[in-house]
Amino acid sequence: MKPRFPIRSFVDLAKLVAISVLLLLILYTFLLNFPLKDSTDVLSRIEMKKKLSNTTVEPVHHPTDISHIKFVLVGCTKTWSTRRPYTESWWKPNKTRGSIFMDTPPPKDFLPWPKTSPPFKINSDATKLPVYKKLANPIEARIFRSVLDSFNLGDNQGVRWFVMADDDTVFFIENLVEVLAKYDHTKHYYIGMHSESVISNFLFAFDMAYGGAGYALSYSLVEQLAPLMNDCLERYPFSHTSDHLTSSCLFDLGISLTIESGVHQIDLLGDISGMISAHPPTPIITLHHFDNIDPIFPDKNRTDAVKHLMQAARVDQSRLAQQTICYKRRKNWSISISWGYSAYIYESIIPRSILKKPLETFQPWKNGPPPLYMFNTRPVTNDPCQAPHVFFMEHVKRLKGDSLVLSTYKRRAPRRLGTCSFTGNHTADGVSRVRVFSNASVRKQSGKIECCNVMNMTGSSIMNIKLRECRKGEVIA
Ligand SMILES: *[C@@H]1O[C@H](CO)[C@@H](O)[C@H](O)[C@H]1NC(C)=O
Ligand SMILES: *[C@@H]1O[C@H](CO)[C@@H](O)[C@H](O)[C@H]1NC(C)=O
Ligand SMILES: *[C@@H]1O[C@H](CO)[C@@H](O)[C@H](O)[C@H]1NC(C)=O
Ligand SMILES: *[C@@H]1O[C@H](CO)[C@@H](O)[C@H](O)[C@H]1NC(C)=O
Ligand SMILES: *[C@@H]1O[C@H](CO)[C@@H](O)[C@H](O)[C@H]1NC(C)=O
Ligand SMILES: *[C@@H]1O[C@H](CO)[C@@H](O)[C@H](O)[C@H]1NC(C)=O
Ligand SMILES: *[C@@H]1O[C@H](CO)[C@@H](O)[C@H](O)[C@H]1NC(C)=O
Repeated sequence: MKPRFPIRSFVDLAKLVAISVLLLLILYTFLLNFPLKDSTDVLSRIEMKKKLSNTTVEPVHHPTDISHIKFVLVGCTKTWSTRRPYTESWWKPNKTRGSIFMDTPPPKDFLPWPKTSPPFKINSDATKLPVYKKLANPIEARIFRSVLDSFNLGDNQGVRWFVMADDDTVFFIENLVEVLAKYDHTKHYYIGMHSESVISNFLFAFDMAYGGAGYALSYSLVEQLAPLMNDCLERYPFSHTSDHLTSSCLFDLGISLTIESGVHQIDLLGDISGMISAHPPTPIITLHHFDNIDPIFPDKNRTDAVKHLMQAARVDQSRLAQQTICYKRRKNWSISISWGYSAYIYESIIPRSILKKPLETFQPWKNGPPPLYMFNTRPVTNDPCQAPHVFFMEHVKRLKGDSLVLSTYKRRAPRRLGTCSFTGNHTADGVSRVRVFSNASVRKQSGKIECCNVMNMTGSSIMNIKLRECRKGEVIA
């Protein structure tokens, strides 16, 4: 037994060495072929990051603000005097960037050009283009090329977005900034909204951004588009409108429209209050075509009506025209508030699924076969159980500490329809004002709705309402 031991241990030792060598070989080939290279990369990257963060070289992400937006407004000297109040209602001198492009130099009575208006620019001469004589609607070539003219002005430092619109477009710029900040401006974006009118979309395109409603192009997209614009005119000389030209041009680049439902072309006529009283729960960004519609507040002319809405916009844009619905159960009433704009009281309990549809107070821009609109509507009726008592915003005030806001809505006129008798015969004829309390220091979130409570009545004629967050799973019906 004994003599075998050294022999055995020798064999064992040899085995051990062989196994060790084999293991080392495997390990060596493994390291050569596999992650050795990558792991040193990871290590050196971590070290580099350490160095960078130590010297704070890492780029800081600045959220989009108003200074990153360059407005490209288009008008003409002929219509400017009636449209100037619309533009000046939202333009903030020294804060909003960009210019208004016109067809001719301003006549003497427009001079000196006021500081309250966007800086005046004349469009570059499109008549020299070889394609000019072939154009179906030559005026539109000037309007179409405004984005190119703005780009060529060169003052583009820090510009993330070019925002196009007409001189009768009204912007809610805080909401515009909030919405554009959602998107990566370094990518190619074409953001806007189709028309409310089915026939407009049918005649032009369902998936294009309507120009008067306003649309945004990211800087990198404009950089790519600018040198191609004259080619687009060559390709689409028969196109009748500048926004249609832009969409055709962008579609050929493979870009598609990103929809933002707060942008409003208003291809409608008459009283659009039904629409502004049932806005989708997204920030309202623009309104347009004020000269084609009734003043948006009764008893005011068009420009005063726009200025009146702006008073609410200055206090709380996140809630502007946002619909909040609540109920006074003891009277079987439904109350629908469009913050800063209107209040409706119905003498019956109507669920949100119905009240979110606009009352069709307006007419189509152009008659055609139904359906007329891109959204569902409710007919205006004389049924006392379905027709609202209508109140319009009278004033908006900040109360204590600036965060509590009181908006007051005054009855437009007596309803004169009698009382809804099926729901207990509770008349709302005696309500003269609706007062709504909200908290402006908490912005309403896009896409979410708020809820409300009916508080006590002050006397018998003033209804008090408090806006609040909806409870989890709260049903509005
Ligand atoms: C890195 O930061 C530390 C403290 O945060 C500091 O003491 C050190 O000097 C810095 N090194 C360099 C190279 O900046
Ligand atoms: C805008 O800035 C200019 C100088 O940069 C100043 O003279 C002017 O008063 C400012 N306007 C407003 C409305 O703040
Ligand atoms: C609108 O009404 C206001 C005051 O009532 C008046 O000052 C203004 O000139 C009117 N504007 C137009 C365009 O009629
Ligand atoms: C508004 O909301 C803020 C934040 O929640 C709160 O601090 C403030 O007290 C509220 N103001 C009122 C008047 O309720
Ligand atoms: C509310 O209306 C319903 C019918 O829709 C009726 O049965 C009920 O009594 C009414 N409630 C009150 C408080 O009037
Ligand atoms: C409803 O109430 C009014 C008074 O507010 C009363 O004159 C009328 O008779 C009532 N109608 C019914 C059907 O109860
Ligand atoms: C209504 O409520 C407020 C506070 O919530 C209270 O001060 C007031 O006295 C109440 N009014 C009536 C008529 O009950």
